[in-house]
Amino acid sequence: MSVKVIIGAQWGDEGKGKLVDFLAEDANVVARYQGGANAGHTVHIGDKKYILHLIPGGILRENVTCIIGNGVVLDPEAFFTELELVKAEGISIRDRLFISDRAHLILPYHKIIDQLSEKSKDTKKIGTTGRGIGPAYVDKYNRCGLRLSDLFNESSFKVKLQENLAAKNRVIVNEFNEDPIDFDNMFSQYMTYAGDLEPHIRDTQLLLYEAWQNGDNIILEGAQGCLLDTDFGSYPFVTSSNPTVGGAITGTGLPTTAIDTIIGVIKAYATRVGSGPFPSEKTDDTGERLRKLGHEFGATTGRPRRCGWFDAVAARYSVRINGFTYLALTKLDVLEKFPHIEVCVSYKYNNETISDFPANPEILNNCVPETVTLPGWNEAIGHCRKFEELPANAQKYVKYIEEVCKTGVKYISVGVERNQIIVR
Ligand code: IMP
Repeated sequence: MSVKVIIGAQWGDEGKGKLVDFLAEDANVVARYQGGANAGHTVHIGDKKYILHLIPGGILRENVTCIIGNGVVLDPEAFFTELELVKAEGISIRDRLFISDRAHLILPYHKIIDQLSEKSKDTKKIGTTGRGIGPAYVDKYNRCGLRLSDLFNESSFKVKLQENLAAKNRVIVNEFNEDPIDFDNMFSQYMTYAGDLEPHIRDTQLLLYEAWQNGDNIILEGAQGCLLDTDFGSYPFVTSSNPTVGGAITGTGLPTTAIDTIIGVIKAYATRVGSGPFPSEKTDDTGERLRKLGHEFGATTGRPRRCGWFDAVAARYSVRINGFTYLALTKLDVLEKFPHIEVCVSYKYNNETISDFPANPEILNNCVPETVTLPGWNEAIGHCRKFEELPANAQKYVKYIEEVCKTGVKYISVGVERNQIIVR
């Protein structure tokens, strides 16, 4: 029996999808705890590539029950599009895909406002995915959000939706000079969704509690990453939820005492999508090479990801916040063609060395990385299945990451395939 939390230790896109799928082989339940269809979790099985946005990675293992927790904001349109793709692959979801009745709904006005508000900003764009995530969480914390459970009381849902839409239309018309959204179409669309969603709706806190009491193996799956966390990320260039460990508790309702293992998924180099400070970013040929070799293009939006060297300042900060039991180091194979590999070990700001991740975005933006250079290994590693099979310099690199993070690396991913992983 175990309850593991899987958390992105950087700016998202660390390869959480592959690890969740790998660990789900021994799991009974996989529950996603925050974010929405902004995530893109990629899993390669044979010659097939699956990109999951909302549905937990465990769906690719037929014996696993999958839960979309209360902390997630659910866009029914995105959910059903993804569900159809999953079913088309012949994967059965019967009686094993449940959504919390407490999860909040994303409505069309959330997506429109997200996109219009990004469009209206000039230099301060966040570079959101446009999936309505921020505006949906605004409503949640403003206590006017609509939850999945609201869908099943038609008359009160109608009143709440009318009130919300009137307020949103005032913003859409007066602030953005766009046409208002029609109520009737939206209402009838959501009533249709209600019927289709009903078989999936549960008190998932209770389901998870019972699974825990039962001694089941449970995985709590985070989306995005620590440095996109609303509280601890590079605010305001963050997402609107808590991918860090606290989010796993509030986003599922499992008590803290249930958790025994916290796994930080960390890429062997660094990437970020969207705007915001990124001290170890390389905008030269090295960045371009990392992007090409690592296929660093957004799984949700297709945007090219910004790339740079491993940032030990950010990684240590993430370790501190999440208390990782151990790390899963991903995409080590991407570095195999580099003769030298740099690691950012501290930042220089105003002639001073900083070794802690600063809160202020202006400071972070003006931090210059101080790096150490390690030798590369110039050799393919995709076939390695044991740590000892890695070239000596690759082993040294892994040990160096462990040293700067003060945390052990238990899993090393050496390729996109399900079995290209070293377990230590
Ligand atoms: P939002 O989550 O769509 O509001 O976007 C806020 C910021 O988080 C933007 O910089 C996005 O590019 C980033 N972001 C959101 N989801 C992901 C993800 O799954 N991986 C990486 N970046 C993400």
